[in-house]
Amino acid sequence: MKYTINRTNHKEFDFYEINKRAGRAYFIPYSSKEVLEKTPIASERFSSDIVKVLSGEWDFKYYAKKSKLPEIFDTETEGFDKINVPSTWQRTGYEPPVYLNCPYEFETRPPKLPNEFSAGVYRKYFSLSSLEKVYILTFLGVIPCVDLYVNGKFAGYSEGAHNTAEFDISDYVIAGENELLAVVHKWSTGTFLECQDMFRENGIFRDVLLYEMPKTFINDYFLKTEKIESGWSINARISLSGNFDGYSVTVEIKDNGKTIAIKSSPASETVAIGFEGLQVKEWNAEIPKIYETYIVLKKGDSEIETVRNLTGFKQIKIIKNVFTFNDAKIKIKGVNHHDTHYKNGYVMSFADLEKDIKLMKSLNVNGVRTSHYPPDANLLTLCDLYGLYVIDEADIETHGCGGYPYFKMNLISNNPKWIPRYLDRVSRMYYRDRNHACITMWSLGNEAGGYKCQDACFEFLHEKCPEIPVHYEGVIRTTRHSYDVVSEMYTSTGNLIEVRDGIRGKKYKNKPFYLCEYCHAMGVGPGCLEEYWDIFYSADIFMGGCIWEWADHAVYHDEGKLKYTYGGDHGEIKHDGNFCVDGLMYPDRTPHTGALEMKAVYRPVRVQLTKQGSFIFKNTNRFRNADYITVKWVLLQNGVKADTGSFGLDIEPCGEQEIKLNLKFSENCDFHINFCYLNEFKQELATEQLTLREAACDEVNMKDDISLICETDNDLLKINFNKGFAVFSKTTGNLEQYNINGKEMMNQEPVASKGFLPNIFRALLDNDNRRKSNWLKLSYNNYNVRLDKFDFADKDGFITVNSKLIIYNSKTDLFSVNLAYLINSNGSVKVVAKLEPQKTMFLETDLPRFGLMLEMPRSFDNIEYYGLGERENLCDFKAQATIGIYKNTVDRMHEPYIKPQDNGNHTEVRWLKITDTDGAGIMFCCSKNKFSFSVHNYTQRLLQEAKHQEDLCDQNTTVLNIDGFMRGAGTASCGPDTLPKYTFDAKDGLEFEFIMTPVV
Ligand code: GAL
Ligand code: MG
Repeated sequence: MKYTINRTNHKEFDFYEINKRAGRAYFIPYSSKEVLEKTPIASERFSSDIVKVLSGEWDFKYYAKKSKLPEIFDTETEGFDKINVPSTWQRTGYEPPVYLNCPYEFETRPPKLPNEFSAGVYRKYFSLSSLEKVYILTFLGVIPCVDLYVNGKFAGYSEGAHNTAEFDISDYVIAGENELLAVVHKWSTGTFLECQDMFRENGIFRDVLLYEMPKTFINDYFLKTEKIESGWSINARISLSGNFDGYSVTVEIKDNGKTIAIKSSPASETVAIGFEGLQVKEWNAEIPKIYETYIVLKKGDSEIETVRNLTGFKQIKIIKNVFTFNDAKIKIKGVNHHDTHYKNGYVMSFADLEKDIKLMKSLNVNGVRTSHYPPDANLLTLCDLYGLYVIDEADIETHGCGGYPYFKMNLISNNPKWIPRYLDRVSRMYYRDRNHACITMWSLGNEAGGYKCQDACFEFLHEKCPEIPVHYEGVIRTTRHSYDVVSEMYTSTGNLIEVRDGIRGKKYKNKPFYLCEYCHAMGVGPGCLEEYWDIFYSADIFMGGCIWEWADHAVYHDEGKLKYTYGGDHGEIKHDGNFCVDGLMYPDRTPHTGALEMKAVYRPVRVQLTKQGSFIFKNTNRFRNADYITVKWVLLQNGVKADTGSFGLDIEPCGEQEIKLNLKFSENCDFHINFCYLNEFKQELATEQLTLREAACDEVNMKDDISLICETDNDLLKINFNKGFAVFSKTTGNLEQYNINGKEMMNQEPVASKGFLPNIFRALLDNDNRRKSNWLKLSYNNYNVRLDKFDFADKDGFITVNSKLIIYNSKTDLFSVNLAYLINSNGSVKVVAKLEPQKTMFLETDLPRFGLMLEMPRSFDNIEYYGLGERENLCDFKAQATIGIYKNTVDRMHEPYIKPQDNGNHTEVRWLKITDTDGAGIMFCCSKNKFSFSVHNYTQRLLQEAKHQEDLCDQNTTVLNIDGFMRGAGTASCGPDTLPKYTFDAKDGLEFEFIMTPVV
């Protein structure tokens, strides 16, 4: 068949749609109510006898240059590949992936597009047995636009990637086989509104549906719930199409299969059916009570069509500056969710979405911002069912206008010519999603400046939908400041405190405050999450917020050198590197430690110790009594279980309960209590630990009055003790051998150096952004160490070796590090490390760490420690970690961040044992203060240089980092740096110490 291909629709500013149907609710009608009632939600889209899902194998022809698209496209001669729909060109090998954060892929001259770019032609056949119906073809998502042709004729055009595009193709179809052609250009004028931070993909990325509707059919409906004096009401407005003679509409509300209300009305174009005084349970994210509403269209007695709606009863009110949902002051424990699949990119099946939603619920998340566009409607259905508050965001972002050549974020948003396009996107989101219980706010988009176009959308929503508040972050930087709530991203805790205390300015006073993005979860972190929640809980003005972001975006490779690739790995010239791997989840939804940190901080119950030694449990739920929670407690004495017990809670929402436990303590021991919260299915909601007693970390006395034998020659100093010896090099100052019973503990073929090396750096965390330029300027990543002074003394019953080292860069000396080794007769070595800045010059003294690095032979692989966390942690990133005794192996203590960085740290450690398979090795104990450590089979240098996991390898060594000081993570990869209390300053010097003892 021959087609005259339209070559201009995609780039003409005059229109963004041709022959497209008006926005309406998403639903899948069935001809039999009985069948629909038995159809699970998961398969609803796929098992209707009215709707055909055209997804599956399609023909596809890709043109690298749209100019090569034939004027007359002959489907018989053109020759096609096969492609699976939904999919994107970048995930099926037609184009390399491109990852960009802010800029457009092309020059920013809206609405002008480049002259040349790619295009793809999709073809699908479908058969119709007769022509008695109304045929609606529905694209649930095509990026960025689609020209539709049916049987040789142009049938319509649409822009708005994440909005539904529907075409009535009744006039184009024939009985028998039909040919459908969908032409997708890589860019359209709509692309100017789709400049989101993500891999930029193209194609038909959501399902394609063919609705074969009876001549009279339900076109749209709106169910509005409202709380009234007599209970709840539902106002149903059902729009019908066709001729209505003899037709009727019934609305039936069911609760678990039982009818609770039913009403009918003769059919007309708009049928209004109202219910009042319904005695129903309300919907909320904690108890997502859902009713099923069936809208049935009948002709006489025969069923024509049935639609199912999942109905939840909610009412949102903003009272002064407090956001209430069904009269409760809710806090959004949220995440930002992008459609991103490790293999399929934008394509997410029902199962993929359900997996995300279930994971969120298991991590105590109660809210989702659908950043930065409306999701597949299935996601909303899942949020209705599982219980998540949704901030539904319109597909509008013009971030690229903020850069060259305009540097003007509002370039498009303040230009009224674009208003229709904005309205189109916002109104279609509204019509499609307005029936979902989970919709808690509408969002007018992201990072698009402001505000004339947004104002128009706001007015539209307020008129149509006064019951749902409107959010848009960008407005804060305009003279308008806010819509229904004040919103920001990455606000520091300091600024939040000012909001709370009413001293941050007028614009922050009168509306609820919401953080649409906070705690950038890139790499190790987020740090300081707990601090955010302390503040959120401290005042009603705070609505909580959504962590950026749910999952890493990366491209997964089944084979090849790299498992995951990010920006720049695909030959992109313009890209934003690894800024896309910034999620709480790895791309395949393995949780990062950050996800566990979130789970801990978003816990439904919080406990506090009173002065009298009892425990106050607080229920942070707004609707649900904590009586579904069982608390299992374990008392740990020096990390070992000393007592256990359990009890149930019974706490009203936001209430408290005091629990007294009869605990016994003994002197000079650590006592911790772990409270593990289990839900009614015995699933762990969180474990919270309180420290009840803490034994002092005394300085250890090394004195033993047995004199040791020292042997010395020009270069070496050997100290013999019981069962072993230690050897120092007088040239390097290093402890090069530590030999116990003939076994050498220091790697004699090290990758970096023998013995302890001072360490003031860490392979940069993504969150080290704020300080990193200073650190790098001074070559903290690449310094040298030389020996300045070496001496030793045999005094007071032990040997003291002093090795003064200088850390220097190519220009100057940076720090001196004095290492004092005190050795006694049983081979214990106390190491005292003292860092001092070389005062003569400017230095950055806010350091990532100060510690020592040591290489042991690779065979020392078994790790046991008494300290914080089975998983990695830092001082501001430890809500997920409890103090205990843990065992592990070196390779399993590595966290495989897609962009490698310092990982696997454990803080607050009292002792650490590193042993080989014979159980021989070294025990490190704290002296004065606890320490941090990490162990790896590779050096920090390799980690520093690695761009991907695959750049790391087992270097046949066991590298121990033992640190007296370790900076927090913060969230400065995009947000604020860690708090001052989680940093340390070396300007007046730093000192820490530990004892090593042989383990035999
Ligand atoms: C925000 C933006 C997000 C993302 C994030 C950084 O400013 O809204 O889309 O780019 O920064 O990861
Ligand atoms: Mg952006």
